[in-house]
Amino acid sequence: MSEEIVILDFGSQYTQVIARRIRECHVYSTILRFDTPAARVAARKPRGLILSGGPASVYAKDAPLPDRAIFKLGVPILGICYGVQLFAQYLGGKVEPGQKREFGKGILTIRDAGCPIFKGLPRSLQVWNSHGDKLTRLPAGFKPVAVTENSDYAAIEDKARQFFGIQFHPEVVHTPRGREILSNFVHGVCGCGKDWTMRSYIDQSVEEIREQVGREKVILGLSGGVDSSVAAALLHKAIGDQLTCIFVNNGLLRAREADVVQKVFGRHFKIKLQYENASKIFLKRLKGITDPERKRKIIGRTFIKVFEAATRRAGRARFLAQGTLYPDVIESVPIAGNPAALIKSHHNVGGLPKRMKFQLVEPLKCLFKDEVRQLGLELGLPKEIVLRQPFPGPGLAVRILGEVTPKRLEILRNADAIVVEEMKASEWYYRIWQSFAVLLPVRSVGVMGDERTYDYTIALRAVESKDGMTADWVKLPYELLEKLSNRIINEVKGVNRVCLDISSKPPATIEWE
Ligand code: XMP
Repeated sequence: MSEEIVILDFGSQYTQVIARRIRECHVYSTILRFDTPAARVAARKPRGLILSGGPASVYAKDAPLPDRAIFKLGVPILGICYGVQLFAQYLGGKVEPGQKREFGKGILTIRDAGCPIFKGLPRSLQVWNSHGDKLTRLPAGFKPVAVTENSDYAAIEDKARQFFGIQFHPEVVHTPRGREILSNFVHGVCGCGKDWTMRSYIDQSVEEIREQVGREKVILGLSGGVDSSVAAALLHKAIGDQLTCIFVNNGLLRAREADVVQKVFGRHFKIKLQYENASKIFLKRLKGITDPERKRKIIGRTFIKVFEAATRRAGRARFLAQGTLYPDVIESVPIAGNPAALIKSHHNVGGLPKRMKFQLVEPLKCLFKDEVRQLGLELGLPKEIVLRQPFPGPGLAVRILGEVTPKRLEILRNADAIVVEEMKASEWYYRIWQSFAVLLPVRSVGVMGDERTYDYTIALRAVESKDGMTADWVKLPYELLEKLSNRIINEVKGVNRVCLDISSKPPATIEWE
């Protein structure tokens, strides 16, 4: 990676959004903890630094503070919100609690059109503010370049050192021209080119993978989900037959899932695919189990057993590949009031046991999810896989309340296939986070033709979410709901009623178990 922007994270909920916006400018960006020593920052040879916002106040007792030497690295710095307070704190200005908290939309008036970060922008801009403290005296060397109603120092500049401070958030959508401000900073001020593309990433990553694994064998657990699928395609491009993918059918998959994986990876990509049909083992162990946590534990443990045996059959491999993504490896900033710090999925089982002595290959670990999807398309994976909605590891088991039986699985699989089909046909599938069917093993009375029925209920769940941590139920059009309900009741034997789940997360969760 030739050109890089380093973002120091002071705990803002938007830090990852900044990183993504920079990458959308085709410039690579890395997030480092706020207290990363300046020497470590310098070692990356960044073209510029961004100081993120954060919930703290610079003079709070536990305020996150950077290594003072970062201001002496000789690279341009953009301070956002809390980042501006840091300039004041370290370079001789003054910050005071604002009389009015500035929060929400505001209008920025640019006073100095010559300031390079506002190049090409109108004199008046809509911006998004979220700060309580206020700059009351400029740090040495700075001059004001833009104002808002509440602040004479909404944007400040130190021309000589190429330091810029902005009180508002350019990374959020409520600052509609914010992307241009960030682009001006990375291209205009820092002089970065536009080298960060998925095409260049593939070339570079292929080389790195080859260098890391040499002639050794690599094993990858392929789930059919986006991350492991893209990792498989990338690794295959790099090392061909040195890669073996293990696909475990746990019997809890959706309709056609095992077929699609075999077709795409086995036949189309000609990847060495070891298909492990372990349905029987999983279903046997799940027999009679109704407690949701026990179900999950049994599935997790069984998976490890099956996978371990499968790796032995695959032959000796030194490396295990995983589709770890960037958000999983960013060190979170433990600051009170920072929700991002608390967000750690309770689902992710701690990986495979240590006794399986593999070295890890993680070719996606500096990518965000949307970049992984782009990469997948670039590698020729079909939309069906790349644009797939998330699907939980324990599969349909967490969507069948109570005991998982072959009969219930069949009913849910059939209902779910209709949901997927109709959601795709109406394009809603691609617009939302998840949409699926849940089987409620409660029976109710219905009539079909002249006959009385006594069958199960399907609940429809469709949610909108950014990361699965919170979610809103989606207001699908009545016509679509009507079609779903009609088709499920008419086509799926064993179901005579369809309900819609209209709960948000929290307090409900997305999955029912
Ligand atoms: P909940 O139900 O906790 O789900 O609101 C949040 C998101 O996580 C997915 N999910 C899982 N993903 N393994 C996974 O890889 C799991 O065990 C698991 N359980 C839930 C869920 O589909 C939703 O997107």
